[in-house]
Amino acid sequence: MSSVFRDPTDMQELPSPSDSGEMTVARTDTLLRAQTHAWREHGLRISFVPTMGALHEGHLALVRRAREVADRVVVSIFVNPAQFDDDRDLVAYPRNPQRDATLLSAVGCHLLFLPPAETLYPEGHCTWVGLDGGPSTGLEGEHRPSHFRGVATVVAKLFNLVQPDIAIFGEKDAQQLAVIRQMVRDLHFPVEILSHPTIREEDGLAHSSRNARLDTQERRAAAVIHRALTRAGELIEQGERSAETIRQAVRQALHGDRRVRIDYVDVVDADSYEPLERLRGRVVVPVAVRLGDTRLIDNLRVEIDSPEKGGS
Ligand code: PAJ
Repeated sequence: MSSVFRDPTDMQELPSPSDSGEMTVARTDTLLRAQTHAWREHGLRISFVPTMGALHEGHLALVRRAREVADRVVVSIFVNPAQFDDDRDLVAYPRNPQRDATLLSAVGCHLLFLPPAETLYPEGHCTWVGLDGGPSTGLEGEHRPSHFRGVATVVAKLFNLVQPDIAIFGEKDAQQLAVIRQMVRDLHFPVEILSHPTIREEDGLAHSSRNARLDTQERRAAAVIHRALTRAGELIEQGERSAETIRQAVRQALHGDRRVRIDYVDVVDADSYEPLERLRGRVVVPVAVRLGDTRLIDNLRVEIDSPEKGGS
């Protein structure tokens, strides 16, 4: 069978179940369905963590949480061609299924789903899931035009294949989280979405597979992102409710390092992703910057429960 996408992962050595302790490694949807069906028959609840591999502490924290909230944990690794706007980025994406399988087994994942592209996008595939507006508009949606259509489509497919009770996503990708929640609501997926706080390195930089692409100086400079978001948090804590003031303060802090080029800084509603003028309710301050050839995103998430300073 062939796929509408070329699949670089097909060239990789794949882990065998014996290499991965008690964890089952399913390459096919048939094996995946057989296992999850058996679990459901026994009344076991399934949690699911979709990933693109190159696993780090952020991913593993999601898997540990998945273990706490259900009886069986499924993790998928699939570098989804449909969500990459740039072919070079897709080819350069790090792939190491053997190492990933070892890490997953160690944190107690029960089943690793590792489909080839032809399973998810067989020849003739032509159905897409895309949001018409809502949280897919603007920011990442604007900078990476087909990105969220690719994400929503693959996550919808994976939900149908795995049929989890619970799926866990990281707050690191806050707009993606809002897009998934919207899709689940709109298409009535019977799955509960949980979010997990961002896991960071010692200097505050959010774990990301892209961090490995930074050279030593860029890596040092990258810490300014978290400092800038922390500054925003302090201002909000002190009662600042003007989105423009927060945006300016974050921009100014980011300019503290001349290597950092800003793609965007904004202040949005956490669910609709609409830009705000005054901070209220659940707020996200999303940031995207470039350091050399590497693009990094991060955000601050705050819940505003106190009235405005000075009102308006
Ligand atoms: P990927 O980038 O591999 O991320 C998988 C999950 O890990 C996402 O929910 C992401 O938000 C979460 N994550 C990444 N870095 C994190 C960190 N530092 N702390 C906490 N969580 C973190 O996101 C994707 O893959 C894809 O778009 C996917 C949803 C799998 C669809 O292809």
